[in-house]
Amino acid sequence: MEELIKKIPKAELHLHIEGTLEPELMLKIAKRNNIQLPFYNISEVKKLYDFNNLQSFLDIYYKSTNVLQNKQDFYDLTYSYLQRVQLDGVRHVEIFFDPQSHTSRGIAFSEVIEGIYEALVQGKKDFNISFFLIMSFLRHLSEEDALHTLEQSLPYKNYIKAVGLDSSEQGNPPSKFKNLFQKCQELGFLSVAHAGEEGPAEYIWEALNLLGVKRIDHGVRCVEDKNLISKLIESKIPLTVCPLSNVKLKVYENMKSHHIKELFDMGVRVTINSDDPAYFGGYILENYNQCMHHLGFTLDEMRQIAKYSIEGSFLSDIEKLNLI
Ligand code: ADE
Ligand code: ZN
Repeated sequence: MEELIKKIPKAELHLHIEGTLEPELMLKIAKRNNIQLPFYNISEVKKLYDFNNLQSFLDIYYKSTNVLQNKQDFYDLTYSYLQRVQLDGVRHVEIFFDPQSHTSRGIAFSEVIEGIYEALVQGKKDFNISFFLIMSFLRHLSEEDALHTLEQSLPYKNYIKAVGLDSSEQGNPPSKFKNLFQKCQELGFLSVAHAGEEGPAEYIWEALNLLGVKRIDHGVRCVEDKNLISKLIESKIPLTVCPLSNVKLKVYENMKSHHIKELFDMGVRVTINSDDPAYFGGYILENYNQCMHHLGFTLDEMRQIAKYSIEGSFLSDIEKLNLI
């Protein structure tokens, strides 16, 4: 069965490239950049990956990210991810990068984006995986800071398809970034936002109504609002759900209690993604497999979810048809 799921062409729509930093690569990059880490081996690193909530993960994630210093580091990070997910039947990726977590440490925007972009171009040649980049703003920082990052990105506008919103959700509602997203829209960027991961259903409404997003990242707390579920179904807005992430960050106690199957049965366009696979115990195929195993999806339903992922991508209609 796993072999069959693997063969289904799929798109990954919710993936933070910084969240693909495997401990092995982290140690290797730290060594070549002469960075002292507070641990020496992979098992010590993995022991730290026991999270209580989103914030406890983000604290470790941003620290690990500090090893990334130059273009080559971002290239290696991105190329390793593509090399890994070609094995999972991934044909298209739309990946997030968080420029503020690097520029705030004095790393030039150009080093970050050029490293990532060049690896994506090479990955397309080597693995036939098409791609778009989504520049994601950190919501725990100010709108002004994000506007400054937007300015820095403009020389690379052609590299970026869409903008997103991530980091600590509670207390940082989408409404905080209304002007920013308005400006991004005027510049021609599409938009998505994390909403309803830990935050309330109201944040999903805000992302839709105030930010004009085309997809909701996570969105699982929509189950608390029937009108919102109807809205998602009618407008065909996809949710980029990350089941293993939700369990690791204690949004759900375990896979069996996850709501993705109920949402799917109601007609919501749910997709399956890995979020930060180096931290959450599995890449995209493992997320598909565990959904099938614990939640009783049939193979045809898994095919439908993979189809939603391609239909919900930012590819053109012709490109989508070529993949499905
Ligand atoms: N940044 C990386 N992973 C994230 C997640 N699951 N939620 C919010 N911000 C993130
Ligand atoms: Zn995420």
